[in-house]
Amino acid sequence: MLRYVIAILIVLLAACSSFAPPPVPTLSPLEIQGRSVFESYCSRCHSASGETVVVGPSLAGIATRGMNRIDDMDSETYIRSSILDPSKYAVDGFPADVMPASLKDELSKGDFEAVVAYLLTLK
Ligand code: HEC
Repeated sequence: MLRYVIAILIVLLAACSSFAPPPVPTLSPLEIQGRSVFESYCSRCHSASGETVVVGPSLAGIATRGMNRIDDMDSETYIRSSILDPSKYAVDGFPADVMPASLKDELSKGDFEAVVAYLLTLK
């Protein structure tokens, strides 16, 4: 009898220890597409991590910071506006005429949505 109890305990222990830790959040396909759009169109001026200033401000944390930029504007609206009309709200300390206003024409609708989705992961 004891042998069976021990055997069951061993099986239970093995089962418990095989539980994987919760998975690290991964990017959705749209966000992955957005990351490569970012690499192609934005990374020559923006970093996506740390405080590194390339030409424009780092976009690390923009999903959180974005909502504090303009009163009553959420991060997503702010990010969209920053791409569609870059000079409308220039970031303090940066020139308003450097980020190209032509990006909205260069990006397909799908790529635009993807890069917005990606930036919203930078919390
Ligand atoms: C030629 C350089 C350049 C490129 C390319 C560029 N940006 Fe910018 N961007 C800037 C500069 C400079 C600023 C700060 C001045 C301003 O707000 O217009 C800025 C500001 C921003 C802001 C506001 C950041 C904040 O902290 O409030 C966002 C969001 C942004 N850019 C997103 C993008 C995205 C997305 C792309 C690519 C699709 C892109 N930028 C491409 C130069 C660039």
